[in-house]
Amino acid sequence: MALVGLAAACKPVLTEADAGPRPLCVNGQSADRLYPRAEPAFALLATVPDLTFDGLDEQGQPARIALHDFYEPCAARSRLLVIRTSAAWCGTCRWDVAHTSELAGADLGERLVWLELVVAGEDGSPPTRPALERWRARSDRPGRVAADPSFSFGPLDTLRESLPFTVLVDTRTMTIRAASGSSSPEAFASSLGTELADLDARPRPSAPTPERFDGLFGRKEWELLHQMGPPGAPPADPTNAWADDPAAAALGRQLFFDPSLSPSGTISCASCHDPAKHFADGRPTSQGAGVGSRNAPSLLLAAHRRWQFWDGRADSLWSQALGPFENPVEFGSSRLFVAHAVFDRHRAAFEAVFGAMPALGDLARFPAAGMPGDAAWSAMTAADQQSVTRVFVNVGKAIAAYERTLRARPNRLDAYLAGDLTALSATEKKGLQTFFVAGCAQCHWGPNLTDDAFHVVRFPTGQPDGQADRGRVDGLAAWLDSDFGASGAFSDDPDAGAERAAPGPSMLGAFKTPPLRGVADTAPYGHGGTLATLHDVAALYGTAGLQPDDARALGQTEPWVTRFTAGHVDALVPFLELLSADVAP
Ligand code: HEC
Ligand code: HEC
Repeated sequence: MALVGLAAACKPVLTEADAGPRPLCVNGQSADRLYPRAEPAFALLATVPDLTFDGLDEQGQPARIALHDFYEPCAARSRLLVIRTSAAWCGTCRWDVAHTSELAGADLGERLVWLELVVAGEDGSPPTRPALERWRARSDRPGRVAADPSFSFGPLDTLRESLPFTVLVDTRTMTIRAASGSSSPEAFASSLGTELADLDARPRPSAPTPERFDGLFGRKEWELLHQMGPPGAPPADPTNAWADDPAAAALGRQLFFDPSLSPSGTISCASCHDPAKHFADGRPTSQGAGVGSRNAPSLLLAAHRRWQFWDGRADSLWSQALGPFENPVEFGSSRLFVAHAVFDRHRAAFEAVFGAMPALGDLARFPAAGMPGDAAWSAMTAADQQSVTRVFVNVGKAIAAYERTLRARPNRLDAYLAGDLTALSATEKKGLQTFFVAGCAQCHWGPNLTDDAFHVVRFPTGQPDGQADRGRVDGLAAWLDSDFGASGAFSDDPDAGAERAAPGPSMLGAFKTPPLRGVADTAPYGHGGTLATLHDVAALYGTAGLQPDDARALGQTEPWVTRFTAGHVDALVPFLELLSADVAP
């Protein structure tokens, strides 16, 4: 309140022509924009440190953005600098940024100045300039956006709240007035009104009564809820010219179930992705030619994923399908072996889709088995190697076309979303409400309840020696090294490939967020398959993952993964248990 008195003595603008002593502004200095003297710190009522970020200015042009740019000690009235920290993968953040005008409220517009900080891009890697541009485009009121991969305001987030995390700063003093995690639109607008009233020494406005849908959900939750399904057809895949070709899908189906593609004659894709088990295998880790260290995901919704495998080492469904064949613990096969099996058993169907096969009957030119790195392969001409690899790639494209035809039947959540408010029981609704309260919807959102990004949540390893799995760091390196990338020579549209990300420290121990649609049917859980029940998963979230000194996981649990109590754990389970996904006939 004392600040208001000072402000009255302060001229907002000074020019060179101003004669005499400079007037005293809030900072006790002349209007020279020297940052406040008080010790800057990340604490309520402390001066915010004068941070600088790389980002985009009001017009969307590249710019260095410094907090002192917002400092206006001589303004007649304080404004609030709203610093909102989001992640591009975060569902709740996307809602907030798309509703910025509404959150600001028409009458507060003049009194607010916004800075959007982005901690990560869509897949969880540090934000690139294109990621900032896309984030800016999501706003209904685009302004300044900057990259902040280290979550500078994290020290204020002592309660580990969900994103977006908002900090309010008084622009005349640069003191931090308030900080909070994701909140309802009403609570957000109310905190803006309260802070401005305090700065103006006016009575605080009365808090609005939040809207409630079905007696439980706020409007933000209700809208996010209605984006949860049901999933339609998978997104187009221009990197596979046969992605939606029915003949390729029919061939792919044959190949998917054919054990003759494995040298033992016993392993097919369906061994570990069994339609009777929702296209998973029900085991902690898979058993093929050997025992693996990761849990087999359901394939029902795989065609919707941006990245394949827990560590995202494949960036298309067709290139994913090539991995298991040459993996010694899965098929233990090789591309030459696969090409021969297709030539012997599926030649007509294959040639009808992809054209003439090479002369695989000539065993002198095309040995029975072999792949890059072994002697049989090295003895072949480069042209023959190329034609075999092309057959192998087309096997992947046919299998992918089949996987793309899989559809999940709507479940009771979909019936609820379609308007049948009795489709869920009271405990299930309570679980759904808790899902929002506990911050799950940051990462698990949309029709399949996933953000398709990589995160560190410290789930236990599945490696037989108990060593932690390095996850995305290794997956990213393998992807960058792959011959079968979506932007590589075997892609049918190399321009459709993903932006190349640089491995960052945040990727150690990070795994892909699995879809939760269908989760009720696919125990056990986690990349290592070590969590037997959904209750075990919820309980692990309650402690924000394994403890930092537990050697079965790597990396630090991300700061926005909220801790919670047994009450929330028990509440969540009935909701997760209704998320079944039967295969549509
Ligand atoms: C021996 C068991 C086994 C066999 C055989 C197998 N898979 Fe898998 N599959 C797995 C496991 C385990 C994973 C997870 C591995 C990882 O993430 O590192 C996986 C992952 C996948 C994924 C990624 C799904 C996602 O959401 O990330 C797809 C798609 C897939 N497999 C399809 C296939 C196809 C197609 C075949 C046949 C060519 C096949 N699998 C053969 C066990 C198997
Ligand atoms: C920061 C992003 C993030 C948040 C927040 C988050 N999850 Fe996850 N979730 C993940 C990732 C990543 C995995 C895979 C972890 C692994 O296996 O290492 C996962 C795995 C799961 C699984 C196991 C699914 C399977 O098929 O194995 C369930 C169930 C789950 N989460 C539910 C929840 C619930 C309930 C909440 C809220 C309490 C939540 N998640 C919050 C990212 C997140």
